[in-house]
Amino acid sequence: MGAQDQASPKPGTPRRVLVTGGAGFIGSHLVEQLLKLGDRVSVIDNLSTGRIENLSAVRDRIRFIEASVSDGLPQLEHTQFDEVYHLAAAVGVELVLDDPVGSIRSNVIETDEVLRYALDHGKSRVLIASSSEVYGKPGTSVFSEDDDLLLGPTTMTRWSYAHAKALDEHLAMGYAQQYGLDALCCRFFNTVGPRQVGRYGMVLPRFVQAAYENSPLRVYGDGSQTRCFCDGRDVAHALPMLMRSESRQHRVYNLGSDRPIAIHDLAEMVITTLGSKSSIEHIPYEQAYPKGFEDLRHRKPDLDRVRAAIGFSPSYTLNQTILDLHETMMSSHKLDGGRA
Ligand SMILES: NC(=O)c1ccc[n+]([C@@H]2O[C@H](COP(=O)([O-])OP(=O)(O)OC[C@H]3O[C@@H](n4cnc5c(N)ncnc54)[C@H](O)[C@@H]3O)[C@@H](O)[C@H]2O)c1
Repeated sequence: MGAQDQASPKPGTPRRVLVTGGAGFIGSHLVEQLLKLGDRVSVIDNLSTGRIENLSAVRDRIRFIEASVSDGLPQLEHTQFDEVYHLAAAVGVELVLDDPVGSIRSNVIETDEVLRYALDHGKSRVLIASSSEVYGKPGTSVFSEDDDLLLGPTTMTRWSYAHAKALDEHLAMGYAQQYGLDALCCRFFNTVGPRQVGRYGMVLPRFVQAAYENSPLRVYGDGSQTRCFCDGRDVAHALPMLMRSESRQHRVYNLGSDRPIAIHDLAEMVITTLGSKSSIEHIPYEQAYPKGFEDLRHRKPDLDRVRAAIGFSPSYTLNQTILDLHETMMSSHKLDGGRA
């Protein structure tokens, strides 16, 4: 696909890399990974769902711009980047349901701004964080990149995130086709791990926090719905590999784990792993999402493409992820305060 045609840094000079959303859960792990690879990293993040503490170990080694993407790009003073990772987005079901207009604007317009910036400033390679949500609710349980997308109606706010991410992908394809930008999209499946917060409806941090507090773990529906969970550190490790791979042949990649677990079993695993006294409480969907929600029964990625490109194989077990997430939660001020 011409990845080798894009501008690469001169041998011996560090890559210049921009990460939007770099103070977030996945973004902060990515920043650490890029620094390990010797890159010079700039971050734009408005700290809406991210936290500056996520970057505390590397704060003095990066350029950090606290701003929205729209306000932050002009502050870069026309810096040319070799690579741009666009992870900033309005994330989480609850946030999207609470602020549909703001979420759509942020998730579509700012993606266009990032792609435009990359094109106008040396044609950086660009990676757009997309989501398994774009598959919608197809009849199959294993999702492959070239499958048709079956999104729900526009009258249901829940689907606006998926539509916005799908439009981001179209934008990336458009910039590639029309202007020759080397843009690719990664559809992250359920990504979990240290630094993720439960505030916006993410299931594993919610469970871990509840288990820590010995309060009930709230499972929506009957809990037989399955998901595949991948550690954010595995995802962060894969992203630069994918960006730099000479053997990637496609512009869209699934990324995640392909080992399903039922949500009820996940709740039990959290309780057992953490030795908690919590019980499990089943909550009807209508009660969990009074503004309306349509859940998927099963969701599992076909990973053939990403395996062929970079030999992707997650290294963290779910047990380890739960333990590490728990440990970082315990050391955070928020949780210490909650327990006191
Ligand atoms: N975690 C998952 O399971 C998952 C699954 C699919 C896709 N994704 C995608 O991965 C990316 C990272 O998600 P995450 O899980 O790390 O969530 P996160 O909320 O921790 O990260 C998003 C980051 O973007 C920042 N941000 C939000 N809007 C911004 C804006 N307008 N300008 C600048 N910064 C802004 C937030 O402050 C935060 O630091 C997102 O694009 C998300 O849609 C995540």
